[in-house]
Amino acid sequence: MAQPPVVLVVGASRGIGAACVDEFLRLGAVVHGTWRSPGANAEHLQSRLGARARRCDLGAPADARAVIEAVVALDGRLDALVVAAGDYLPGTLEDHGSASIEAQLAAQVVGPARAFEAARTHLRAARGAVVFFGVAGLEGLRGRRRSAAYCAAKSALLVLVRSWSLEEATHGVRVNMVSPGVVPHPDADPETLDPAVLARVPLLGATTPGDLANAVRWLCSTEARHVTGVDLPVAGGFAL
Ligand SMILES: NC(=O)c1ccc[n+]([C@@H]2O[C@H](COP(=O)([O-])OP(=O)(O)OC[C@H]3O[C@@H](n4cnc5c(N)ncnc54)[C@H](OP(=O)(O)O)[C@@H]3O)[C@@H](O)[C@H]2O)c1
Repeated sequence: MAQPPVVLVVGASRGIGAACVDEFLRLGAVVHGTWRSPGANAEHLQSRLGARARRCDLGAPADARAVIEAVVALDGRLDALVVAAGDYLPGTLEDHGSASIEAQLAAQVVGPARAFEAARTHLRAARGAVVFFGVAGLEGLRGRRRSAAYCAAKSALLVLVRSWSLEEATHGVRVNMVSPGVVPHPDADPETLDPAVLARVPLLGATTPGDLANAVRWLCSTEARHVTGVDLPVAGGFAL
């Protein structure tokens, strides 16, 4: 019988990352997850995953390496990496200034890149899969009245996702992006609950964290064995 896949979700303590943990556990995978901030969410993750829950701040260069080493030390391999970390920044460029652009590049691009680089060798050994998160509407490089620094950084991440997918293809590693639209959850930005924002979703109603987890699970599965370099919107048509 085939071994269950070993999956690491970075940013697993809440929201979409937590839903990915639920989905992979439901499948019978061996699931590792990380939290950054101490508190109730981290404790809940630890209660679910035990020794497979660890602290990781992608802002600290050594953390990603330590987490990946711990996964492989415990379970011997890594088949899938899901990077759900990435602090949302609402507001305009005028509100936040250029410091926000630097901070968002660190949060959405440099941190996720650290996770991927730390995992690369193990993913190649397993011919595994990676999923990053973008935001709906990256295609076409639209201007943004709000959250421009956040969206610009997500656009940069998309270029890296496509570049990694090219570099890794001959090693059998697939690299994809899933792009949510409006996904309210107990810890999400209050903007996601704004009726005016939700009214702009063509498939009426909010996308759920579980909707994203379903897409992530599929992209990591053998059913998607020939899918790489895509940006898959799971957004009810938001930002079309
Ligand atoms: N929710 C939405 O409406 C929406 C829409 C578009 C795109 N997205 C994207 O989808 C992804 C998941 O969204 P979400 O709403 O579930 O996010 P979230 O509620 O902000 O949760 C993010 C998770 O990542 C962790 N994290 C944040 N920064 C980190 C860092 N530097 N190092 C390590 N872990 C870090 C957080 O840990 P702690 O809580 O422990 O600090 C948390 O577990 C994000 O990339 C987000 O940008 C979300």
